Amino acid sequence: MTKLCAGVVVSAVCLSVSAGALADQSVNLYSSRSEALIRPLLDEFSEQSGIEVKVLSAKPGSLLSRLKLEGSATPADLLLTTDAGNLAAAADAGVLGTLTQDVLEDVPTELVDPQRQWVGVSLRGRVVVVSERTDPRDDPLTIEALASPRYQGKVCIRSSANIYNQSLLASMIANDGAEQAQAWAEGMVKNFARTPEGNDRAQIKAVAEGICDYAVVNTYYLGIMLSDQAQAPAAEKVRVIFTNQDDRGNHVNVSGIGMTRYAKNRANAEALIEFLLSDVAQQWYAQVNHEYPVQGAYPRQRFGQELDA
Ligand SMILES: [Fe+2]
Repeated sequence: MTKLCAGVVVSAVCLSVSAGALADQSVNLYSSRSEALIRPLLDEFSEQSGIEVKVLSAKPGSLLSRLKLEGSATPADLLLTTDAGNLAAAADAGVLGTLTQDVLEDVPTELVDPQRQWVGVSLRGRVVVVSERTDPRDDPLTIEALASPRYQGKVCIRSSANIYNQSLLASMIANDGAEQAQAWAEGMVKNFARTPEGNDRAQIKAVAEGICDYAVVNTYYLGIMLSDQAQAPAAEKVRVIFTNQDDRGNHVNVSGIGMTRYAKNRANAEALIEFLLSDVAQQWYAQVNHEYPVQGAYPRQRFGQELDA
């Protein structure tokens, strides 16, 4: 049996001491988001609520495997992860419980799992970035168009093993049908400037370096690069196209959170979810991580006015 203590996995001794002693003022979070990134936000929650947040950080697949293995013995109260695909996989695996309607009040329904097993806490757009060297009249205005022969040898994208691309393709299956989505994927392969390699930032750099003219990336990577002196020059060499403006709109995904099925600190867990949906946290997602808030148009005051400072 293992237990989270200050972000590291330690022995069962720690479990027996801290779980009992801190049951009322702590919450255990399994997170696939970088702890260095989210720690300031969690510290603000702790300061306001008096609830300590103990974090175990790992990749989404590792956290899900762990939750399945731990079963009812899991110390985790919450799972914070990126991509609706990862959240749905956790719900399908039966490791999440049901959130109360209270905590989801005011959240747009399209950002809540229909079974209320998770809720989106930030939005990310998966867009096409374009080299500044290209003619805007050649811009692909839909994600479907990027697979057309006119872009042959000009497109960079990370591997299809990545869930961002799997979710993008899933959205195309939902909107265009499986046959068209398959044809799109085959067209994209024909348009590759190179065999897929690297992460989204590597695709932006490849466009800046002239390896390709078009790439598919999440927008917050551009924001992160533009905020970093060393990476800004590459990010400044691309334009962003929000595709499909004349039909369904650009593909967006979420990062989100769910309470585990066997959460022991349920009230504290729901307090942290409410905090992540509060104005102060939503502003943080936008300003620090360059994602889009889910709550921008839906002011949420329930957590307390003092958090607006
Ligand atoms: Fe990402």
